[in-house]
Amino acid sequence: MSLLIKNGKVYQNHGLLKKNIFIKEDKITKITSQELKADKTIDAKNKIIIPGLIDGHVHFREPGQTHKEDFLTGSMAAAAGGITTILDMPNTLPPTTNLQRLDEKRRLARKSIVNYGFHFGSTTDNTAEIQKVKNVASVKVYMEYTTGDLKIDNNEVLQKIFSNTRISAVHAENEQILNAISMIKNTNNDIYFCHISSKEELYYCKKEKIKNNIYVEVTPHHLFMTAKDLNNLGSLAEMKPHLKTEKDQKALWEGISNGKVNAIATDHAPHTKEEKLEVNYPYGVPGCETMLPLLLNAVNEKKLTLKRMVQLCCENPSGIFKIKNKGFVKEGFDADLSIIDLELEKEVKNDELFTKCRWSPFDGWKLKGWPVTTIVNGNIVFENGKINKVGAREVSYYE
Ligand code: DOR
Ligand code: ZN
Ligand code: ZN
Repeated sequence: MSLLIKNGKVYQNHGLLKKNIFIKEDKITKITSQELKADKTIDAKNKIIIPGLIDGHVHFREPGQTHKEDFLTGSMAAAAGGITTILDMPNTLPPTTNLQRLDEKRRLARKSIVNYGFHFGSTTDNTAEIQKVKNVASVKVYMEYTTGDLKIDNNEVLQKIFSNTRISAVHAENEQILNAISMIKNTNNDIYFCHISSKEELYYCKKEKIKNNIYVEVTPHHLFMTAKDLNNLGSLAEMKPHLKTEKDQKALWEGISNGKVNAIATDHAPHTKEEKLEVNYPYGVPGCETMLPLLLNAVNEKKLTLKRMVQLCCENPSGIFKIKNKGFVKEGFDADLSIIDLELEKEVKNDELFTKCRWSPFDGWKLKGWPVTTIVNGNIVFENGKINKVGAREVSYYE
C-alpha cells in the first residue's frame, strides 16, 4: 500500500514547506515537490502536516478497570486527538510490576490503533524485576498517594530504584521533588518529573545544575485550568496534582517559553462520571482528545508557537524516552502523522468523544485549530470525525 499526502504544508526542520509526502507501507519514503503516484491520495490543501503526537503519560486502565477505558477506546481517543503513540502507566489492576504482568498487558494492548509503549511499575521489593525488564519507556515511581496502591516512601527503596533504571518517571509533589533529585544525583541516570503543576515545583526541578538530565512534563489541565474551575466543575476537576493558582499557571507557560518545560503529556486518567460524582471520588481527568485542539487554539492566540508545540509533544518525548524512528516528519521515519487545520473552529462536546468515560472537563470550550486526519504506520485511523480500526504496534527504544 502507498499513500500520498499532497498540497499540504509539511512541518520539517522547524519550518513549513509546501511539499508532498509519499508513504510506502509504514514508512515515509519521500518528501518531495513532485507528485508521485500512489494507491491512495489525501488532499491536504490549507492544512499542515505535523509529526503524530507522542503522549508520554496515559492511563488506559487495562487490565482491571475496563469499565473506565481499554486499549481500543483509549487509542481511539488518542487517534481523534492527533496522537499516534502513547506510553501507558502501570497503575492498572493488577499493577504492571512484574514481567508476567507486562507480557499480559502487551497482549491486551494489541488492539490499540495507535502505537504504544509501557512504563514499568516499581514497588518496595521488585528490583529484580526492574533489572530484568526489557523494552519499556521508564520505571514509574509514585512518591505521592494517588489512584492505585504504588506509593513508596522509604528513601532506601527509592534510591535503589533510581539506581537501577536509566530513566524514572516520577509522581512527586512539592518537596518530594527535592528528595528525588538528591537521590538521582547519586546515580548516572535521568529523571522525568510527571505533571509539574506549580511555580515552586518548577523552581525545585531546575534549581540545581547536576550531571543527570532532569525532564519536566506539564499537562494541558494545569495549563488551561486553575483551582477556580473547581467552582463550576467540582470533583470532575479533581486530579493529582490538584489544580493550582493563576500565578502557578503563568509559571508553567513561562517554562514553556524559556525551555524549562520539556514535554507536554495528557495524564489521560479516565473515570466514569458517576464515579467522579461520588463522595469518595477518584482523581483524574481524560485528556487525549483535547490536548492538541487546546494547544492549537493557544497557537492561534499566540501563546505558543507551532515549533515549540511540536518540540514538546513530538520531538522531545521521542528523545527523552529514546523512541526509535518517531517524532519527526522525515524520510525513513515511521509514517505517524497528524494533519491539522488551524482555521477549523469547533466546540468540545462530551457526546462526540471516543473515550469510554465520555466526558471532558473542557466540554463546551470553543477551540480554533483541530486535527482532522491521523495516520499511524501509514494507515488512516482517523478522518472526518470517523475512526478506522487498524491494529498498531509496540514501540522500540534506542539503547
Ligand atoms: O489525577 C490522577 N489520576 N493523578 C494520578 O497520578 C493518577 C491518575 C489515575 O490513574 O487516575
Ligand atoms: Zn501522577
Ligand atoms: Zn498519571
